[in-house]
Amino acid sequence: MAPDRLDNSLLVIFGGTGDLARRKLYPALFNLFVDGFLPPALGVIAVGRCGFTRDSFRQEILLPSLETFSRRAASLDAYFEPFATRLHYFRTDIYDPEGYTRLGQFLVELEEAAGSRGNRIFYLAVTPEHFGPVIRSLKETGLVPARGWQRVVIEKPFGHDLPSATELNRQLREAFSEEEIYRIDHYLGKEMIQNIMVIRFANTFFEPVWNNKYIDHVQITSAETVGMENRGGYYDRAGALRDMVQNHLLQLVTLVAMEPPASLATEAIRDEKVKVLRSLKPLDAAAVSKNAIRGQYGAGEIDGQMVPPYRQEKEVAPDSTTETFVALKLFIDNFRWAGVPFYLRTGKRLPLKVTEIILQFKSLPDILYFKEYGELRPNLLVIRVQPLEGVYVQLNAKRPGNNNYIVPIRLDFCQNCEVGVNSPEAYERLLYDVMRGDPTLFTRWDEVEAAWKFVDPISAAWAAQGQPQFPNYAAGQWGPPAAQRLLICDARRWWEENGAESIS
Ligand code: BG6
Repeated sequence: MAPDRLDNSLLVIFGGTGDLARRKLYPALFNLFVDGFLPPALGVIAVGRCGFTRDSFRQEILLPSLETFSRRAASLDAYFEPFATRLHYFRTDIYDPEGYTRLGQFLVELEEAAGSRGNRIFYLAVTPEHFGPVIRSLKETGLVPARGWQRVVIEKPFGHDLPSATELNRQLREAFSEEEIYRIDHYLGKEMIQNIMVIRFANTFFEPVWNNKYIDHVQITSAETVGMENRGGYYDRAGALRDMVQNHLLQLVTLVAMEPPASLATEAIRDEKVKVLRSLKPLDAAAVSKNAIRGQYGAGEIDGQMVPPYRQEKEVAPDSTTETFVALKLFIDNFRWAGVPFYLRTGKRLPLKVTEIILQFKSLPDILYFKEYGELRPNLLVIRVQPLEGVYVQLNAKRPGNNNYIVPIRLDFCQNCEVGVNSPEAYERLLYDVMRGDPTLFTRWDEVEAAWKFVDPISAAWAAQGQPQFPNYAAGQWGPPAAQRLLICDARRWWEENGAESIS
């Protein structure tokens, strides 16, 4: 892809020495730089409280971040110095109004030195409780409106529930228009997730069967082996439902289930996505008891190592009732999908790190091979999001030989299986899109709102059910037994990572 011509701008990162900036933002910016995808005079200002000089910031924060997390670490010798000249460090406390005034002056100096037009991107890479105060200060101290265009990038979680999300949105809208707000859902930046629409709408043979006449059900799994790392404090207040389902998993549902948009224009795509969220059949308390399974991990084994239970993780309450696993069965009440269950599951400390979407097709009637050979495998379309990126179709075919054995085979495309293929990270695409002003891969407010409307009743029903029996799965297992039963009761089963074997 040839890079678009990008306007020069300043990118101000609040939380400039934090985890997100070090793990994701600097490596993504560096990779974009190496590939020639940054505007010629982009300036990056890392805002933080610590006393770094420009040089010590580069040596102690920037360089280690790139060495550890960039997929282009091998290019550091050649590119680190020219890249680092784009980076500045600005020390202030985000609660000090005078600090914003100084920051404003600094930005003007940089803009004048670069001869740029005063285009500004503000990236809120801070924890959610700081979003509102930072936005208010930007407005009150005159950093916005910018002289040129302005954009704000806001990380998830976007609120804790519908009322808090609405309030955050109100605060944002006092300083920025909806078009200027880029709400990050980093799953939308992943290669294979961008590929879902292409697979669906650029191939003749999927669209005619992409409906309740041919599809038996859909499974979406996003499993992780990690526990809390250093995020216990945040996670214990959020839980898997808010951390993964409200955003990433429901976004995947929208892309699988949406109608073809009228065009590839941003709003046309978002309009179709939000319709899916609004068509989700609400889960009342009785449906939650049956179709929303929660779990929390106890001690267990991951990659051959014993790991402690969730309740012993740092900053987690010893009697925590926060869920680290969710499995859901949901329905989309529209003509295309009525009656087709979507099974979602996500969790920490599961046996594999894997994200994949599986569409299982209905079996043929019990005639011919289905009659003679009994247990034929269903056709599957498997979209592998990570760690392997690709897509395959599972078919039935005759095994070569004199006997008529029918076996499942795969038409398999793997995008990152070949040595040397190095897909861009989600944040590269997302930062690039912010710089060129394309919000298609970001969530619009009405999507966030509709997602909370679906999720809030589930949290409320769980709260009303009282104390769950936690822990209810050992680290290294695929969640609690109820998650298996969710499908077994429907005479179905979860497919394992490679789609071929059942895990039950
Ligand atoms: C984040 C969640 O949004 O996504 C984390 O807050 C989770 O808890 C992460 O670990 C998973 O992202 P990925 O890209 O590793 O699947």
